[in-house]
Amino acid sequence: MSDHERTFLMVKPDGVQRGLAGDIVSRFEERGLKLVGAKFVQISQDLAEQHYAEHEDKPFFDDLTAFITSGPVLAMVWEGQDAVAQGRRMMGATDPLEADPGTIRGDYGLDLGRNVIHGSDTEEGSAAREIDLFFDDEELVDYERIDETWLY
Ligand code: TYD
Ligand code: MG
Repeated sequence: MSDHERTFLMVKPDGVQRGLAGDIVSRFEERGLKLVGAKFVQISQDLAEQHYAEHEDKPFFDDLTAFITSGPVLAMVWEGQDAVAQGRRMMGATDPLEADPGTIRGDYGLDLGRNVIHGSDTEEGSAAREIDLFFDDEELVDYERIDETWLY
């Protein structure tokens, strides 16, 4: 755990289409996490299959890759203390029916497949892998946020 832990968070196509991207960015900004990389992209089938490789044998895999490639996404890297776990807590449970109100999925989702946001679930595993999949090193910015002295 360090102040520089990084996680990969992504507003999914439903979140973009519903105009929720700004609110989602705001939530992480206000929490104190620092945005160090962002791109607004249309995911290719190949990238979708790599990103969700852990689910390739699941019955929902085809629907999942079809959905994630169905419109643009906002892919982001956020940095800060416990960034991966904070990201997961703020997203809420995978199934919006179980996501607590106050979380992103609990406030905006109704359907398991259309749950607005993706976030890495472990630092060394999925975060490092997903950041690497979506970003080149030079696309990640190293800078200090003016409130860091007060956050840490
Ligand atoms: P998963 O990695 O288990 O959840 P999370 O996004 O919280 O890390 O699953 C990836 C996505 O797959 C999930 O966000 C929604 C979709 N999904 C389904 O459509 N059906 C399912 O039964 C599950 C478990 C996930
Ligand atoms: Mg997952």
